[in-house]
Amino acid sequence: MNNAYQMEPFKIRSFMRRQGRATAGQKLALDAYWEKYCLSAQQEYDFDDVFGRQAPLIVEIGFGNGGSLADMAQANPELNYLGIEVHRPGVGHLLMLLEQRQIGNVRVFCHDAIEILQQKIPDYTLAAVHLFFPDPWQKRRHHKRRIVRPEFAALLNRKLAPGGYFHAATDWEDYAKHMLRILTAGKGLVNTSPANTFCQRPAYRPLTKFENRGLGLGHKVWDLIFQKI
Ligand SMILES: C[S@@+](CC[C@H](N)C(=O)[O-])C[C@H]1O[C@@H](n2cnc3c(N)ncnc32)[C@H](O)[C@@H]1O
Repeated sequence: MNNAYQMEPFKIRSFMRRQGRATAGQKLALDAYWEKYCLSAQQEYDFDDVFGRQAPLIVEIGFGNGGSLADMAQANPELNYLGIEVHRPGVGHLLMLLEQRQIGNVRVFCHDAIEILQQKIPDYTLAAVHLFFPDPWQKRRHHKRRIVRPEFAALLNRKLAPGGYFHAATDWEDYAKHMLRILTAGKGLVNTSPANTFCQRPAYRPLTKFENRGLGLGHKVWDLIFQKI
């Protein structure tokens, strides 16, 4: 653990360990490509060395099955992407996509994103943090498990480079308003929406698997983009 990057440590149990089993293809990909794409939470990294080049680094938290992350990385080969996801079958699915499409600008931590941000990412270095359809924790007594809380906003402010941005999207209106309140109240991040509310989905963000499911059920979607000043 590198204490150099630790601010006030805090924990948010923002995920449930899902029971879903990995498919045969996901298991094969985990076995065959883990070494090639995955990083260890027990090691220290220089990300320029990891990617073999200097390029803006974008973190995606909770990429699910990785479909939208693979699409974005393929569409933007000049950027480096770091995906962080606790669900191993989802990591396996992403590894299959990276290998099938020969996408070279993605690396993965299968670990809690809060710990990775706190311990592995140097301060003021990220070009962007993406958080697409975080677990909404709908019941009031579970709101404390929502990843977007004041401590998380402070962590983002600390990890983003000046000019970098945080982009979140959700199909749960109450969580959208909760994120808007917390990010607006936090220091150092400015809402890019002219009305200081929500944004249209920008062209660079593909529809995600979770989003598609919600759209099929008639859900609306709220995007928020805050820039680090
Ligand atoms: C509702 S799913 C959305 C997945 C994907 N972004 C999509 O839109 O299809 C939320 C994902 O975030 C992951 N997650 C939640 N908290 C996390 C954390 N602290 N670190 C890493 N992954 C996390 C969960 O495992 C889950 O796969």
